[in-house]
Amino acid sequence: MHEKADTVAVTTGETSDCESKQDHLTLIDHHNGQSYDLPIIYGSVGPNVIDVRRLYTDTGYFTFDPGFTATASCNSKITFIDGENGILLYRGYPIQDLAEYSDFMEVSYLLLKGELPTAAEKARFEHDITYHSMLNEQIAYFYRGFRRDAHPMAVMCGVVGALSAFYHDSLDINDSHQRMIASYRLVAKMPTIAAWTYKYAVGQPFIYPRNEMYYAQNFLHMMFATPCEPYHVSSVLARALDRILMLHADHEQNASTSTVRLAGSSGANPFACIAAGIASLWGPAHGGANEAVVSMLTAIGDKCNVPEYVRRAKDKSDPFRLMGFGHRVYKNYDPRAKIMQRTAHEVLDALDKKDEPLLAVALELERIALEDEYFVKRRLYPNVDFYSGIIFNAMRIPTTMFTAIFALARTVGWISQWNEMIEDPGQKIGRPRQLYSGQGPRSFKRLNQR
Ligand code: SDX
Repeated sequence: MHEKADTVAVTTGETSDCESKQDHLTLIDHHNGQSYDLPIIYGSVGPNVIDVRRLYTDTGYFTFDPGFTATASCNSKITFIDGENGILLYRGYPIQDLAEYSDFMEVSYLLLKGELPTAAEKARFEHDITYHSMLNEQIAYFYRGFRRDAHPMAVMCGVVGALSAFYHDSLDINDSHQRMIASYRLVAKMPTIAAWTYKYAVGQPFIYPRNEMYYAQNFLHMMFATPCEPYHVSSVLARALDRILMLHADHEQNASTSTVRLAGSSGANPFACIAAGIASLWGPAHGGANEAVVSMLTAIGDKCNVPEYVRRAKDKSDPFRLMGFGHRVYKNYDPRAKIMQRTAHEVLDALDKKDEPLLAVALELERIALEDEYFVKRRLYPNVDFYSGIIFNAMRIPTTMFTAIFALARTVGWISQWNEMIEDPGQKIGRPRQLYSGQGPRSFKRLNQR
């Protein structure tokens, strides 16, 4: 039986002293007349936070925030999102500038180290990543334990988690040098792992990384080359993929990044933590949405069917949702989706697929949804997943590989966030509490008494 919740009054106050102005909120519990000052901690950009670390000790209350819609889980300097205004910054640089003028290796360096590299730093970083891109040959046998029709994300979870069995010299999380080696290995090896996942599924021999190729080019080569003849990677497709990898590289404390941080907070090794992130990303509400978008667009089939699907998306009795629409944080257009839409046009033009029916359906779906009161009222806009599948589809990348490529791109963000957590002096094991609404203590009844 829930007692009527006692409201607590909250007032903001300023207590200034000679050192610094420490703002606070005062919590007044009308239940017992007590008042509590909760310090406010200021960020550099975006919302400030109420420090509730002493709330339970001082008041006996927990906060209640399922889904963490209003909870800052950490203090980070890596990525900033302003959902109201559709802003995304990697270490302060707008995603639009990075997508236009940078590349995935520069963005990876930026996320990992906090600054854009000089030409010499970039060359050294690319060299180090290139020379970590091969896999221990034993790992090739690991693939053979999977069915050929295993979902690539199942294989990625398994292979990435198994890396800790091969690289014992980069497991000491308290050694910054070993952390960086593990970080480089994960960024470097993900394209090989993902491409081999595809090759295993189609029964073709594994293609080894080529040291003269750059990151995105190497991945497409490992995906589509065969030992039988030279394979030329289209520069337009490689550049488009490089841009897509940049757009997916990091995104603040999303579900999979929070999973990596929580796994890492127990002291688990980085390979196990990234495997946990892959598992979380797999879900259709998160990284699995790009695969679901193409399935949805294919099911819609033609522009004339769009109104029926929009109706279904609004019908609460129908579980159907517009995949690739909506976002926990963006209540405006996802800035990545705009760049993805432009990239979709570039790739389809380059492949002479301007009339791709999936794109026509997607554009009509977006047009109708953005005019519809249901979506406007709930501020549901296309997100990063809405166009990526159309591009991958045009590149002849199978739908089941879409989320594996998302995982490939997000690995540098995950491992950057993991490093930041390990290096945080205030870091401790993550251990949320709960609101318990189950049975109170009761006497056990023996079987013959029930
Ligand atoms: C990613 O967090 C990140 O940063 C993630 C990501 C990253 O880079 O890491 O950006 C990548 O995961 C993008 C999101 C990909 N997922 C999808 O496209 C799946 C479809 N989208 C939804 O499932 C949903 O929008 C979420 C999960 C993305 C967000 O859900 P929220 O914030 O929990 O919002 P909600 O479920 O509370 O929805 C609010 C309202 C509800 O209606 P009401 O109860 O108010 O009447 O909007 C409705 C929802 O029913 N709604 C949708 C909808 N999304 C929300 N209705 C129809 N279609 C949708 N897609």
